[in-house]
Amino acid sequence: MRALWFRDGALCLLDQRELPGRRRVLRLRQAEEVAEAIRTMAVRGAPAIGVAAAYGMVLAQRGGRLGPDRAADLLGSTRPTAHDLFVGIETVRRAWADGEETLAAADAYRQEIVEECRRIGLAGAPRLRRASTVLTHCNAGALATVEWGTALAPIRVACERGARLTVLVDETRPLLQGSRLTAWELARDGIPHAIIVDNAAGYYLSRGEVDAVVVGADRIARNGDFANKIGTYEKAVVARENSVPFYVAAPWSTFDARCADGRSIPVEERGEEEVLSVRGVRLAPRASRARNPAFDVTPSRFVTEFFTPDGAVKPGGIARLLDRRARAG
Ligand code: MRU
Repeated sequence: MRALWFRDGALCLLDQRELPGRRRVLRLRQAEEVAEAIRTMAVRGAPAIGVAAAYGMVLAQRGGRLGPDRAADLLGSTRPTAHDLFVGIETVRRAWADGEETLAAADAYRQEIVEECRRIGLAGAPRLRRASTVLTHCNAGALATVEWGTALAPIRVACERGARLTVLVDETRPLLQGSRLTAWELARDGIPHAIIVDNAAGYYLSRGEVDAVVVGADRIARNGDFANKIGTYEKAVVARENSVPFYVAAPWSTFDARCADGRSIPVEERGEEEVLSVRGVRLAPRASRARNPAFDVTPSRFVTEFFTPDGAVKPGGIARLLDRRARAG
């Protein structure tokens, strides 16, 4: 299953706002349309929006109306927390500046993300071998990454290797990425799962009914603090309280080597209508206001290990690995 692909001069996206009810493919031919699709979350998940933005840069160059800087600003202003967004944009901006084929650069970037997610699956699967119940939050599957997923990749590989596990899927208010998207992916793969309301995770963790928590990330700082979908922080704290291992799975594009710790991670605040209404139906009183942070930041001390494309790494090992990658170019 692929979340996005490029064909006949257009970026094609599975519209994630409509899933699982309707399988609608958007065909986007302009960078402005790609920016709008990212902003309104037709495409979402940090690695996937990075790839979408890379193709958005290709469309900007082909359109001829936006220069590389304006195109990068337009796409980069959509969702500030996801570090991958800026890596995708920069990758194609460099090719554009160097007079290289931008579509080839975007295709290579996409392929690298797919390959890294496959390796994340191999890195994390051994940790889940004996788990019978794994909790995940939001959607960090193929839809969020193009293929495989980050948090879902080790689960997929463990199941392929014969693990008999059930996934507890947080429904993930307000936009229900868990109950709509993660559950849809797991159902398609025949992986046993149960959707729980967000508030039930602590209950199952406290009863010893969860063997591991695996989530994705939108940005990971050098010290291992990381941003992910709102609600991740409290799952991490409750997992620690109950001695349940807590894993974070991400490709290298999610790691921000210039960000020292979680205090400098920008957190996106989205519109209040996402909280006050469900699918366009207003549930809250007319007079009520809402607040809607899309992400929270979890300190690294709550992370057991990161599942990276190059293996499982403890939070204290992240900075060294990032420096080694920078030296290797
Ligand atoms: O607001 P979203 O749906 O884009 O948030 C997505 C998440 O929080 C994911 O966990 C994260 O991007 C990692 S996806 C591999």
